[in-house]
Amino acid sequence: MYTIKLNFEQKGLEPVTLTNVEEGQTLLEIALKNNIELHHNCGGVCACTTCHLYIEKGMEFIDEITDREEDFIDRAVSPKLNSRLGCQSLLLEGSGEIEVTIPDQTQFLGE
Ligand code: FES
Repeated sequence: MYTIKLNFEQKGLEPVTLTNVEEGQTLLEIALKNNIELHHNCGGVCACTTCHLYIEKGMEFIDEITDREEDFIDRAVSPKLNSRLGCQSLLLEGSGEIEVTIPDQTQFLGE
């Protein structure tokens, strides 16, 4: 089970902490289940960049990045070393704390 803290770059959104989050789900799935807006224009198949987010803490609890994911991250807005795609960030077996920052989702308005 994981505790996941979500921070938002979008102004006016307060951080959210989710507790007792089960492994075997992606950060995209977890966000959507908890009514947290995270765009996913390709439907979660690693073919866009709209689910891009930053892992501030707990990268070791997330499945390894693939070359394909890295390629898409390179095309995202403001990629960083801790960038991942939410739909590819599968929680591994274990427990601990993960902290994530979600980029401003209003950047996708009109897409
Ligand atoms: S939803 Fe398109 S890459 Fe994640």
